[in-house]
Amino acid sequence: MMEPQDTIEEDDSPSASAPPSSSSSPPPRALPRQRVSLQKTSVCSRSYFMVVMVFFHVYIINVIALLLYVHYNNGSNAISANRDFTSSDSSSHKVTGASDAQATADSGFPRNMFLPRIEGIRVGHVQKVSLVSGKVHEMKTLSLKPLLFEIPDFLSEEECGVVLRLAQLKGLMESQVMVPEGQEELNQQLNLSPEEIFNFLDLNQDGQLQPHEILTHSRVRDGIWLTSENLKEIYDGLKADLDGNGLLSLEEFGRLRSDAFQRFLLQRGVERSQLVRNSRHTWLYQGQGAHQVLQDLRKRVTLLTRLPSSLVELSEPLQVVRYEQGGHYHAHHDSGPVYPETACTHTRLAANTTSPFQTSCRYITVLFYLNNVQEGGETTFPVADNRTYEEASLIQNDVDLLDTRKHCDKGNLRVKPVKGTAVFWYNYLSDGRGWVGEQDEYSLHGGCVVTRGTKWVANNWINVDPDYQRQARYQLLVSQQESQEQEQPNLDQHIEAHQDL
Ligand code: OGA
Ligand code: CA
Ligand code: FE2
Repeated sequence: MMEPQDTIEEDDSPSASAPPSSSSSPPPRALPRQRVSLQKTSVCSRSYFMVVMVFFHVYIINVIALLLYVHYNNGSNAISANRDFTSSDSSSHKVTGASDAQATADSGFPRNMFLPRIEGIRVGHVQKVSLVSGKVHEMKTLSLKPLLFEIPDFLSEEECGVVLRLAQLKGLMESQVMVPEGQEELNQQLNLSPEEIFNFLDLNQDGQLQPHEILTHSRVRDGIWLTSENLKEIYDGLKADLDGNGLLSLEEFGRLRSDAFQRFLLQRGVERSQLVRNSRHTWLYQGQGAHQVLQDLRKRVTLLTRLPSSLVELSEPLQVVRYEQGGHYHAHHDSGPVYPETACTHTRLAANTTSPFQTSCRYITVLFYLNNVQEGGETTFPVADNRTYEEASLIQNDVDLLDTRKHCDKGNLRVKPVKGTAVFWYNYLSDGRGWVGEQDEYSLHGGCVVTRGTKWVANNWINVDPDYQRQARYQLLVSQQESQEQEQPNLDQHIEAHQDL
């Protein structure tokens, strides 16, 4: 599954490479001869000195440039926060004005909030972290793409039990509804011609619909997990692929009703195992008044991620998930890509526009395993540390790397669920200036099918808007609301808003 643990200490920085001057200077043995030539050709020795000095300066400039690059890539807090990490002092997570020089915002809010990113160093690297007084945790790097860590014993046995029972007490609901509603209506409202739909589906615009183009669409839109075999059955049943080449041309596609595939599937009946996600879940509020274990957990997550506590506190509640035997969650991203017009669900209050594109902006996922699973149920990262990421090549005819019921064993990395262990990863890269950047496509992951027993996990997502101004406005709005509430307490409303999630 993972590389063996090879270091315990955090300090394993690579030994400094020898400066170029030493490699270009003559070996000590040659000293007497060198002295002779120095006397003979002083011009030559001066130019030699000049060359060495030039090399030396270039080297120094390179080192400075590298340091500046690392500094801005991590955000200035990251460096100091990493050093402080073994202490349990959380002051470095507070929003500070230490970095005013870095970027004064384009307008309005000063850029004084930074998101430190934990350094992975290399796969298998272990760093000690202090999250609970009197205890030291070990955090192991599992992959660099995505930046992914594992922390055994993050929760105690008792804490796992409490979270599990609280979830049961609250009651769990199906994670995905069986039959997606409103598709018919949507089709009618949009009133698209077959040609328009065809062009929309033809991702690579080659005038043919490849199986993966249809499969991706059905999975995203309907939440039904079609396989290549299912698709063949549908093509046969509907006599859609007349020339039998496995592709649909515009002509072949035009003969079908716009909802033909959906009707075919629904008539045949869809089972839970054919959905993208086959589990039940609930949400647990972690703020003031919540069970102490839930509050402690959130504090620990703040220490673990080293993010400002204000960000963690304004994130989604804890999601507790139960997979029965046979349950699974096919490979997915917890949060979508960001385009200039993309809005985040959590900061909608503070957004000026009502964009049709919305994503959950889950910067970090912290996943806790609440029990030991008898068999199966690993978390898979099919493309972790892959050299390249190509969406189309993930779905091949014989192997579909996104399919966690069939092909979990073929992915690059799997984490075995162990009671109390936490894993966490970044769903977005850094923007190089201490804030959230682009989506990290390598963060693709899923829950392998549980072949024996039941699997319980919990998700803590840390929501951050890649638009700094929007996040800042949102936080300001919430703090204004909270101070109003303090004047006229109306706690119920606040708690309800979280429970609705
Ligand atoms: C999730 C998820 C993985 C797992 O809940 O979003 O990816 O192993 N879970 O259950
Ligand atoms: Ca195509
Ligand atoms: Fe997920």
